[in-house]
Amino acid sequence: VAWRSTGVRESELGPGLRAVEIEGRPVVLVRLSGAVHALAGACTHIGGDLADGTVTDGRVVCALHGATFDLKTGGVLTDPFGVEPPEGAVEPLERYRVRLVDGTVEVDLTDHPGP
Ligand code: FES
Repeated sequence: VAWRSTGVRESELGPGLRAVEIEGRPVVLVRLSGAVHALAGACTHIGGDLADGTVTDGRVVCALHGATFDLKTGGVLTDPFGVEPPEGAVEPLERYRVRLVDGTVEVDLTDHPGP
């Protein structure tokens, strides 16, 4: 287990994407329905900054070409061409376990070796 503080308090998070960088890797945080989620911050298409994207109905939408990912699992919903898995041009996003320590969000980098 490799818990790392994001330096962000849970209370600062809302339904929009919040970018943080942890040990050189981009991560986005979202609080939705009382749960905090942490996903890789770079789109698996060509690396678009997901922090520029939007969250709608539990989907993260990349601002660059519109690929959509499941906020809770990081799974691909549609690629930039609207194609659904198992076809399609993108891989799932890495997802990180989250815990709160005194109200501050920590993520577990285990099994997610550095960039
Ligand atoms: S970089 Fe995200 S859809 Fe192209």
